[in-house]
Amino acid sequence: MRRRRPATVSKFFVGSKLALTVIILVLVQTSILLKQAEGQNVSNITTGGGIWELLLTNAGIPSMHSAVTRYGSVVLLDHTNVGAENITLPGGKCRNTTYDLVLKEDCYAHSVLYSPTTNTVRPLTILTDTWCSAGQFVSDGSLVQTGGGYEGQQKVRIFKPCSTNQVCDWVESTTQTLQFPRWYTTNQLLPDGRQILVGGKAAFTVEFLPSNNEGLVELPFLQQTNDFEDDNWYPFVHLLPTGNLYIFANRDSIIYNYKTNTVVKQFPQIPGNPRNYPSAGSSVMLPLTYSDGYVGVQILVCGGAQLGAYVNHTSQPGCSSTCGKITVTDPNPVWAMETMPIPRCMGDMILLPDQNVLIINGAQNGSQGWGYASVPAFNPVLYQTYNNQSRFLIFEPTTTPRMYHSTANLLQDGRILLAGSNSHQYNTFRNTPFPTVLSLEAFSPPYIVDVDQRTIIQILPAQISYQQSFGITFWDPNPGAPTVTLSVVLTSAPFVTHSFAQGQRLLVLDIVNATVPSHITRKKSITVMAPPNSAVAPPAYYMLWLLKNGAPSIARWVQVLQA
Ligand SMILES: *[C@@H]1O[C@H](CO)[C@@H](O)[C@H](O)[C@H]1NC(C)=O
Ligand SMILES: *[C@@H]1O[C@H](CO)[C@@H](O)[C@H](O)[C@H]1NC(C)=O
Ligand SMILES: *[C@@H]1O[C@H](CO)[C@@H](O)[C@H](O)[C@H]1NC(C)=O
Ligand SMILES: *[C@@H]1O[C@H](CO)[C@@H](O)[C@H](O)[C@H]1NC(C)=O
Ligand SMILES: *[C@@H]1O[C@H](CO)[C@@H](O)[C@H](O)[C@H]1NC(C)=O
Ligand SMILES: *[C@@H]1O[C@H](CO)[C@@H](O)[C@H](O)[C@H]1NC(C)=O
Ligand SMILES: *[C@@H]1O[C@H](CO)[C@@H](O)[C@H](O)[C@H]1NC(C)=O
Repeated sequence: MRRRRPATVSKFFVGSKLALTVIILVLVQTSILLKQAEGQNVSNITTGGGIWELLLTNAGIPSMHSAVTRYGSVVLLDHTNVGAENITLPGGKCRNTTYDLVLKEDCYAHSVLYSPTTNTVRPLTILTDTWCSAGQFVSDGSLVQTGGGYEGQQKVRIFKPCSTNQVCDWVESTTQTLQFPRWYTTNQLLPDGRQILVGGKAAFTVEFLPSNNEGLVELPFLQQTNDFEDDNWYPFVHLLPTGNLYIFANRDSIIYNYKTNTVVKQFPQIPGNPRNYPSAGSSVMLPLTYSDGYVGVQILVCGGAQLGAYVNHTSQPGCSSTCGKITVTDPNPVWAMETMPIPRCMGDMILLPDQNVLIINGAQNGSQGWGYASVPAFNPVLYQTYNNQSRFLIFEPTTTPRMYHSTANLLQDGRILLAGSNSHQYNTFRNTPFPTVLSLEAFSPPYIVDVDQRTIIQILPAQISYQQSFGITFWDPNPGAPTVTLSVVLTSAPFVTHSFAQGQRLLVLDIVNATVPSHITRKKSITVMAPPNSAVAPPAYYMLWLLKNGAPSIARWVQVLQA
């Protein structure tokens, strides 16, 4: 995969220096004001860094949901009932549209497969409405996608990915159906390889897919956190290494044992604004690491909208500037609050292979909903996980607003793919301040160093088993560096929608013999210990990264499974 720095980008950097200086001054000033207002530490802000690339001006659809397959291709998914897309189904195929809200004849593709290697898309076939749906990759690498709007609310759809020279497409299940209509639901892969589907619009239950006759399980927490503007759709769900779930909705959170249907622990409310749909914060579980036996868990929640911003959407109040972090495994956990340099709702939070968190996309005013946001947040911000003296960095801005119904995914080469944005019920390409966005961009964080500095993984098993060691042979193009720190990291491939990456997790693996002996040899081998169990790493395909002095290799896919 090539790394290029388009000339236009460099020119842009130079040309915008003055403007950037002004922005820095304004941001530093804002940060100081925020400090005074909220009594927080001033963030140590460095502005700049990162490279933006326009990949395609027209991907055919605005992506509402997206997921990276084990072949490195990316499923981009919009929905039906949205009107004309900019790509048609192959072979003159059309959908049955007797029930479509807009089209009398629908010959458009509402999903595409993007290949980062060829930088092209090809159309995929979606038959029913996937609006505000959910999904997860299951253990064989298939994307199992659930629910949506209208005729799609109880549908199950499966995409079994294939290599670039083969053809694969969505298949709507004829044998499986959801037990309850679900949209705005969050799915999470479980240690047993099934998915749990948590909540959603007017859905105060969980269910399992496939179901073992558990039926619909009521979870009163989902009703209790539902306020006058909801604020608890698309709850933030994280699978804990104990096998329980951490569920965050509105401003509350619990540890939930889904096997016994009991709430094991209730956490204090996060200060500030509501954080879930339509208030549009985001969340990650910070890296789990071998260094404490994968026991400690910290949850980070950033951004959100003001309570009432959705109901009073014409007032466009500022989005939240705060991030809250809680140590789930503390006996008496409290939220530690910090101030982001830029307020944000509808931001996407991506766990980067270097263990930091990228906060990207979104808006600075308003809330989620059609036309309910303004003032795009053009600059990505880096949350430096282990640097509490200098927590946030501000990166270079894009020029494309990606607010409601946009996505962000980590690609195998370390770049972040940005897709979509549609602030309208039906695709609207002109005569509006925020037209529907068909373009694809990539953002390269500064950790992507020159190709001659990046290690190359040469030999790696295709499958790794819990608690078993395995070998990695790699090429180190520049072995002479005085201090070499190596790390090996697994990242899951999440289903990204509505500012939350469902099933996202990052595991730092133990390198059993990390001391690299020879400065002379460029070809090296290390032995690494696989994750201990399926609660730490539910069975799936993961991207495996080798990082040298914090710079990631291109990732290779490994299937993590039971021996
Ligand atoms: C802020 O960050 C810069 C660059 O990382 C560092 O040199 C400086 O010491 C930091 N300042 C404080 C007060 O932490
Ligand atoms: C659709 O794509 C074609 C070809 O790229 C372009 O000319 C046209 O303007 C696009 N339409 C919209 C609505 O973006
Ligand atoms: C089209 O959809 C309608 C409504 O679901 C159904 O009654 C009809 O049989 C479908 N027609 C075809 C050709 O699939
Ligand atoms: C909406 O705005 C009106 C007028 O400013 C205010 O009275 C009302 O409390 C607001 N409602 C909410 C839910 O914030
Ligand atoms: C966005 O919110 C900020 C902070 O509340 C406010 O000062 C600004 O006027 C708002 N901008 C718009 C366009 O509403
Ligand atoms: C910063 O992190 C270090 C190491 O984790 C910790 O010892 C220290 O107390 C932290 N400082 C603050 C202000 O949180
Ligand atoms: C680590 O152990 C493996 C297997 O024993 C060996 O092949 C490799 O050379 C060792 N690597 C280092 C860096 O010691």
